[in-house]
Parts: sequence; structure tokens; C-alpha cells
Amino acid sequence: MATDTEQQLVECIARLPRIPLASVRPTPLEHLKRLSESLSGPPIYIKRDDLTGLAVGGNKTRMFEFSLADALSKGADTIVAGSAVQSNYCRQLAAACAKLGLELHLVLRPVRAVDKMDQQGNNLLQRLLGAHVSIIEEFDHASQKHAIEQKIEKLRKEGKSVYWPRQEDTVDLDAIAYAESALEIYQQCRTLNISPSYIYMAALDTTQAGVELGLAHLNSEIKVRGFCPLNNVTHRHHDIASMANNGAKRLGLNVEIKPDQISNDDGYVGERYGIPTAEGLAAIRTVARTEGILLDPVYTSKAMAALFEHIKTGEVDHDKPIIFLHTGGSPALFAYAEDVLYG
Ligand SMILES: Cc1ncc(COP(=O)(O)O)c(C=O)c1O
Repeated sequence: MATDTEQQLVECIARLPRIPLASVRPTPLEHLKRLSESLSGPPIYIKRDDLTGLAVGGNKTRMFEFSLADALSKGADTIVAGSAVQSNYCRQLAAACAKLGLELHLVLRPVRAVDKMDQQGNNLLQRLLGAHVSIIEEFDHASQKHAIEQKIEKLRKEGKSVYWPRQEDTVDLDAIAYAESALEIYQQCRTLNISPSYIYMAALDTTQAGVELGLAHLNSEIKVRGFCPLNNVTHRHHDIASMANNGAKRLGLNVEIKPDQISNDDGYVGERYGIPTAEGLAAIRTVARTEGILLDPVYTSKAMAALFEHIKTGEVDHDKPIIFLHTGGSPALFAYAEDVLYG
């Protein structure tokens, strides 16, 4: 039976504007029996947020239920966003916009030289889903921000009502979506009668912020270990804590998380964002061949490689289950085919 804190979280989230977009919710929490045995470590469970729906699924689908509801409530007819060419965020956004009849403009930044030409993986799907895609020449974030601002100005001059999601005043909505995933995990652990020690996950900011918010509100003993896909994001602990706290404020919950309570490790990025690591690629193959589950080369594979290493070095208790939060990303496999098979 749901406790008062669970009920309170459900009720606070239910007060927000929301559009149903996910095909599967709650997503399953599955035991990875063969993978756990092959690593001779703790029982590993996987939270299948790769199955949320919206053109191959992933963590962003939950978020667009809130952020696009916000866009529609503000009268938007056009969405503008930017990320990397192989962005899972932009692919799921393209599917959501198609479903809602919103015009979408994506201003994408190449990460590898091949990204400028190769219409594969997420980039293929963004176009298939009807997004207007432009890829900038430069590789840096500042040039991309400038290009997005120019695009917005042009569209507004043409009379469009433009919404740019995931900005400072709305990003906590994305985190709130993940407080709900944390609640699902909490309830599924009770049903399965397991007490995990950690949730391992690929995490830059909003997803971890939401999981931290949900678990803190529920007074859960499960701890989170996030693995950042980028080097040198020095403010990330602060950002995660402040997104969680802003989400709590919007929901009216009494949660205050401090940056030093956040575990977010960038030690498994390798060379840089968007470049796979040998350990991550090996993890993709192992998980595919033991469980039939697809990780991705940019985010989840690096978090899984961290879990493999932690099991080997004894940084996790072998008697307590571990949860791996699968945030999706498999379409990118097609844009990294050589690496995935032979790297
Ligand atoms: C597969 C995958 N995992 C994790 C993340 C990180 O999500 P967040 O930026 O919410 O931390 C992303 C971001 O795009 C992603 O595509």
C-alpha cells in the first residue's frame, strides 16, 4: 500500500499541466540474471526507461509530458531546440512534436567530423519525424547558442509563437518527471522485495536531479551514482542540487539537497563527450549478448562500464542488489557502427 509520502508526491505531480506521451509507464524493473552471473557480483536490476516510447524511447519522453504541456499552455506553435547531432533528446522531441502537431526546428552541433554528413542514427530519425534540421559548422556550444537565438528571432519575425524548452525557468519540469521514475523504482522494489544499495545511471543533470528529488522526498535509503558524459562540467553537482530543489519548490515539497550530497563522476568519459570508450563498447556487447538489451555509445555504456569496474574493485556490496537506470539512446548505435562491433 502507498505511504503518505508516496501519495503526496503523486498528488503534487498531478497538479501540474501534463500531456500523455509515454507508451509505457511505469516502465519495467527487470532482473538481469545472466549479466549478474557473468560478472559474479551483486544482482543487477534494470529500470527500462529505454522503453518509454516516442520513436525508440528514452529518458526525455517523460520530460516532454511536462515541458510541452508548458509550451502549449503558453500558446506555442513552434519549438526550437539544439543539442548534438546524435541527440536522443532531439529525436524524442521530434517524435513528440509530430504527435502534437507542433513545428520543430533543431539547430544541431557536430561532435565528430562525420556528424556533418552522416544522416544516420538519431539524425536520420529527427529528419524522418519531420523536424527542420540545420547543422552548424562549428563544434562549440557558444556558436550553437548564437545560431539558436538567430533562428528564434527569424521565426518570431515570421509570426510564429516560439518555445525553447529546457531553459533556466522550466528545466525543473524535466527533473520533476524523474521524481516520478524514482517513485516507480521505490514501489517496484517493494513489490519485488529487494533493498538495493545504489542506482547507477548516465547523468548530466535533470535526470539525476529528479531521481535525487524523488528518493529524498521518500526518505529512501537507495543512493544514486551518476556518471557524467562530459568532461570539465565543474558546476554539475551544484546544478543537479539546484534543479532538484527548484523542482521541490514547484511541487511544494520540503526537500533541500546540497551539492556535496550528489555523487556524479566524470571519470568514465574517456577522451570527450560523444567519443566512445573501449570499456563502454565492451559493456555494450556484454549487455547485448547476455540480456538482449541495447545500451548506447555516448551515455549508458559509460555508466555501465563504471558499474562493471566497481563490481570488480569491490566498490559495491555484493549482497545488495544494484539498479541500473537505462536512459535509452540505442539509435546512436547505428551512427557508431564500426566502433560498436570492433572498437
Ligand atoms: C541516453 C541518455 N542518457 C542520459 C542522458 C542525460 O540526461 P540528463 O541531461 O537529463 O542528465 C541523456 C541526455 O541526452 C541521454 O540521451
